[in-house]
Amino acid sequence: METNKKKRILTGDRPTGRLHLGHYVGSISNRVRLQDEYECFFIIADLHTLTTKPEKEHIEKLADNVRQMVLDYLACGIDPKKSTIYLQSAVPEVTELNLFFTNLVTVPRLQRVPSIKEMAKNANLSELPFGLLGYPVLQAADILLPRSHLVPVGKDNESHVELTREIAKRFNYLYGEVFPIPDVMVSNFGSLIGTDGQAKMSKSLNNAIFLSDDEKTVSKRVNGMFTDPNRTSADVPGCVEGNPVFIYHDAFNPNKEEIDDLKTRYKAGTVGDVEVKQKLATALNAFLDPIRERRAHFEAQSGLVDEIIYEGTLRMREEARETLNAAKKAMGLSSVWNRISRKAEDTRKKREKGK
Ligand code: TRP
Repeated sequence: METNKKKRILTGDRPTGRLHLGHYVGSISNRVRLQDEYECFFIIADLHTLTTKPEKEHIEKLADNVRQMVLDYLACGIDPKKSTIYLQSAVPEVTELNLFFTNLVTVPRLQRVPSIKEMAKNANLSELPFGLLGYPVLQAADILLPRSHLVPVGKDNESHVELTREIAKRFNYLYGEVFPIPDVMVSNFGSLIGTDGQAKMSKSLNNAIFLSDDEKTVSKRVNGMFTDPNRTSADVPGCVEGNPVFIYHDAFNPNKEEIDDLKTRYKAGTVGDVEVKQKLATALNAFLDPIRERRAHFEAQSGLVDEIIYEGTLRMREEARETLNAAKKAMGLSSVWNRISRKAEDTRKKREKGK
């Protein structure tokens, strides 16, 4: 079979709801591009949300968030005929692999992972929950469960893939070659600045433009964008570097001539922010139009998104079972039970014969 020769990718997201432009440039566009060349698995990492949000009120929102996020995947062109989209919590093998992996990494090693402290801080946690410390270990189990070769992620997840490589090497060293050592592919875009120009685009900071925003919302958002604060009127020469409006132009406006012209005039103080923003809104809406159309198409077919997640999860369960069996066999763990259960069955049979 052709597909079996392809190398594998595993990547994914925590289901926090609708995706925004930052997700698109940081990861989704890469995934869409890679799905022909690789056999792709996209994980909806709902178990990872429990590390900072274990409360029931958050769990109750998961199903909706999962659907919204998968709708965005599909809208961007992730094709369920080529790729497997699955729900982490419905593949219990990952928790067993996670447990094995927790023994192959030390606490100080995990305490050095920079993103963990960051996540604890953002969640207002003064002390680290055990599960949050283990976040990247669970991620390693995600990545190695389908034995993937490549993990495309944002910069903030690079250290998690590094740890995954260490765990895979350690496992293979102790028990035999079960896992490929996966390579990381860090998005060359980095993270997209928010519309406020203050921090990276994020839902919680209210500085995001969502892939599912309608035309009016996008225009309104762009109008309110932070630009060069020193520019009190259109005839003051402005700064283009690091200016969010131009960062977005570069990322989403395919008309390079228009961008060059706007930049030249901005630096000379011969264009107003209004024109720069209007042209950006037009470009963004043109970029989002086909995404909105595909989203509407999937949304209109009731149950289709759920079916896609369901089928993907069943497919992943098969992979998971296979890998877990291989891992337990390599560890010699399956033979412990095998020997005991075989002897027990023999004994039982003999006793019944002797009666
Ligand atoms: N850590 C990722 C995030 O920042 C989500 C995630 C969980 C993930 N498991 C993964 C990403 C495996 C890539 C591979 O939301």
